[in-house]
Amino acid sequence: MSEPVERYDLERLLRAAQEGIAHAYAPYSGFPVGAAILTVAGEVFAGCNVENAAYPLGLCAEAAALGSMVSTVGHRRLRAALVLIARPARAWPCGGCRQRLQEFMEAQAMVYAAGLGLEPIGVPFAQLLPWAFGGHDLAEPMT
Ligand code: THU
Repeated sequence: MSEPVERYDLERLLRAAQEGIAHAYAPYSGFPVGAAILTVAGEVFAGCNVENAAYPLGLCAEAAALGSMVSTVGHRRLRAALVLIARPARAWPCGGCRQRLQEFMEAQAMVYAAGLGLEPIGVPFAQLLPWAFGGHDLAEPMT
């Protein structure tokens, strides 16, 4: 069963994503993104997009937040993630980032999208990436 995160945690996520977006490096797209993730242990990590003159090498905000988590406390299961854009609109994680989040998120974890002056809206992760490929697919079949 998917449960929305507590208001307190949603605000922690939003603040972290605001800190992230303040550091976004998006000179090519002009589209700054902030992301924040909440672990099941209650830790929050932020990230921002980091673009590159060699465009395909740019990093999404979600990838940066996951890298921050793993390099700070190791890998954790995620309770929720939030993506913030600097416009009065909402954007959901790109396809690649849905797969990145899948590595650490159960189907019932929550993903939120927020924008300037807009309340975050949340959906269960399974709604963003149903029938996901994951580590379970790599397990040896039982003989
Ligand atoms: N971007 C993210 O950071 N996360 C997403 O889920 C979608 C896209 C970034 C990549 C690029 O720097 C900019 O947004 C425009 O695509």
